[in-house]
Amino acid sequence: MADGPLIPGNLLIALAEASRVVVMTGAGVSAESGVATFRDPQKGLWSKYRPEQLATAQAFENDPVTVWQWYQWRREQLHQVAPNPGHHSLAEMELMFADFQLITQNVDGLHQKAGSSKVIELHGNIHRNQCSITNKQIGADTIDTTELQPIRSPYHKDGWARPAVVWFGESLPENKLSIAFNTSANADVFFSVGTSSLVEPAASMARLAKSNGAVIVEINPQTTPLSAVADWCLNGNSGDWLPKIVQSLQEINARSDTP
Ligand code: OAD
Repeated sequence: MADGPLIPGNLLIALAEASRVVVMTGAGVSAESGVATFRDPQKGLWSKYRPEQLATAQAFENDPVTVWQWYQWRREQLHQVAPNPGHHSLAEMELMFADFQLITQNVDGLHQKAGSSKVIELHGNIHRNQCSITNKQIGADTIDTTELQPIRSPYHKDGWARPAVVWFGESLPENKLSIAFNTSANADVFFSVGTSSLVEPAASMARLAKSNGAVIVEINPQTTPLSAVADWCLNGNSGDWLPKIVQSLQEINARSDTP
């Protein structure tokens, strides 16, 4: 096992006994892949760009060229990055528990690239497009997704193709929300990984899990509003902690398989 702080024994016991595990991830889980987070004071996207000018339906209506080009720039950057050990460990964890659900606020698609299949993308996926008027998904085969100028929607004469992400002021899809809240409410262990726990409704899910008796584990190099209610705060990078957790669980499972 790599050097550094050890995983608390009681946490490993809780995990070994758990069958329903929920993991909520945020931008921090992709930071070690080279993807900028949002609220880092120096490098975060919201320290350089104003969300109201780039991530709202109004901004897109006012200036579709700037908004579309900002998203094309982010998409281009994402094509150049790969999942990191944190993403890969979460894909492995999915196979280790009877009932596992990954909920992500990230739109980068890196969890799926790492092999996770049970992923709820609460804030959508930046690689997909939808009609700005009907919200119908627009397949990549229907439009030229590399185009630098905004593209008309094939589904409405006044519509545009827009990134299939949730913008500020927009509601999250009902079906995803209800599965995310339900699985959080029933979790034995709830991980909050690489998120500032500031954005609702995602931030409420850990609190709901806690109030229903789940063990809450936070992985983050910084403290967040969740830290005070978490049972365990693993201080540091997800790309360090998650592989350690998976390795420890594999060792426990191997011991219990030995006759
Ligand atoms: P933030 O940028 O708010 O927070 C990122 C968190 O990751 C911070 O708490 C960091 O301390 C932590 N972090 C940084 N590096 C890390 C690492 N290597 N390992 C673990 N943690 C690390 O990002 P989110 O919480 O994801 O919404 O932001 C939530 C939402 O706000 C985003 O989905 C986006 C944004 O506006 C929409 O676009 C709708």
